[in-house]
Amino acid sequence: MSDSAPGKLLVVEDNASLAENLVEILAEAGYSAAAAGDCRRARELAAAGLDVALVDLRLPDGDGISLARELRELSGDSQVVLLTGFASVESAAAAVRAGACAYLVKPCATPDLLLTVDQAMRQVRMHRERQELRIRTAAAERLATIGTLTAGLSHEIRNPLNAAGLQLSILERRVRRLPAGADQTALLGPLSLVRDEIDRLEHILQDFLQFARPREPLTRPVPVATLVEKVLDLLEADAERRSIRIERSLRAQKPIAGDEEQLRQALMNLAINAIEASPPGRSVRVASSDEAARVRIDVDDSGPGVPAELRHRIFEPFFTTKASGSGLGLPIVHAIVTQHGGEIVVAEAPGGGARFSLVLPTA
Ligand SMILES: Nc1ncnc2c1ncn2[C@@H]1O[C@H](COP(=O)(O)OP(=O)(O)O)[C@@H](O)[C@H]1O
Ligand SMILES: [Mg+2]
Repeated sequence: MSDSAPGKLLVVEDNASLAENLVEILAEAGYSAAAAGDCRRARELAAAGLDVALVDLRLPDGDGISLARELRELSGDSQVVLLTGFASVESAAAAVRAGACAYLVKPCATPDLLLTVDQAMRQVRMHRERQELRIRTAAAERLATIGTLTAGLSHEIRNPLNAAGLQLSILERRVRRLPAGADQTALLGPLSLVRDEIDRLEHILQDFLQFARPREPLTRPVPVATLVEKVLDLLEADAERRSIRIERSLRAQKPIAGDEEQLRQALMNLAINAIEASPPGRSVRVASSDEAARVRIDVDDSGPGVPAELRHRIFEPFFTTKASGSGLGLPIVHAIVTQHGGEIVVAEAPGGGARFSLVLPTA
C-alpha cells in the first residue's frame, strides 16, 4: 500500500543559494522539498516526516555524517544522500558507513541529482512495501492459525443467536396483540434495542465467517459499471438518510476478471466506510477508469482521511476506531483483492478525505 503523495525531501546545506537552487530543481521534478541551513533546523523539519535527505558533509553546527545517522534513526525507512565538496574515496566510504545510500559531488549536475534522488526514493518505497508485506503476512498467519477454531465457534454462536432472534419475534408479535390500553410502546422500545443488538452480532458473525473461510473466487468477466451501480443502488437509501450524496463517474470500459459477488462485497465495504466517514451534507465519490491491463475503482469520501500512522493498522483483523465496528471490513477487502491478483491502495482524496482505490486485473 503506497500512497501517491510526492516524496518528502530535505536539503541540508549551509550555502543558502545552493540549497535554494537544489530545492527548486527538486520541486520542479515534482518532489516536496524543504531546505535547512544547519543540523538543528534539519532535525525540526525531519520530525514532520522525511523520505530522502540530501546532507552536506560540513555544517555550521555539526557534521553531515553524524546527522545522516541521526536522521536515519529518527525515521527508519528514510534515505540519506551525502553532498561533498570534492570526490574522494574516503568521503564515499564515510558516507556508506553513516548509512547513506549515495553521495553527490558539488556542484552536481541536474540529471545526476534527479537520478540519485529517484533511486533513493525507490529504495524508500521498496523498504516500506516490504515492511507492510511483513506486517500483513504476519497478520494473515496469525489469523489462519486461529481461523478454523473461531470459525467453528462462530457457527456455534449462530445457532443460539438464531433461536434468540426467533423467540424475540414471537415476543414482539405477542406484545402487538396485547389489548388496547396496555403500554405497548414501553415494551416495544427495549425489544427493538435487543433486535438491533442481535442484528449487529449477526453482522459481525457473517463478516467473520467470510473472512475466516473465504471461498475460492469464481472468475468470470465482470462489467465494472454494473458492479458499481448495483452496490451504490443498495447504499443509496442509507446515504440519503445521512444526507450524503453519492456521485458516480464510471469510465472503465473493460470488464474485470473476477467473482462478482466477492467484488461487490469488497466495494460495498469501502463504500460503507466512506459513507460512515463523511459528515452530513457532503459527498462520496466513486470513479472507475481503465489502466493498461487493469481497472481502477476509486472511492473518495469527505471525512477526516486515514492518519498516516494508522494506514497499515486498518487492514489488521479487528482493528476499528468505531464504537460498534467489527474491524473486519478492510481485511475482507484486502483478502478478496489479493485473491483476485489486485491491489488496494489508501491515499488522500483530492479534496481532502480518504481515497481507497481498488486496482484489479481485466478479464
Ligand atoms: N473512509 C475512511 N475514512 C477514515 N477512516 C477509515 C475509512 N475506512 C476505514 N477507516 C478506518 O479503518 C478502520 C477499519 O475499517 P473496517 O475494517 O472497515 O472496520 P470498521 O468499519 O468495522 O471499523 C475504521 O475503524 C476506521 O478507523
Ligand atoms: Mg467498515
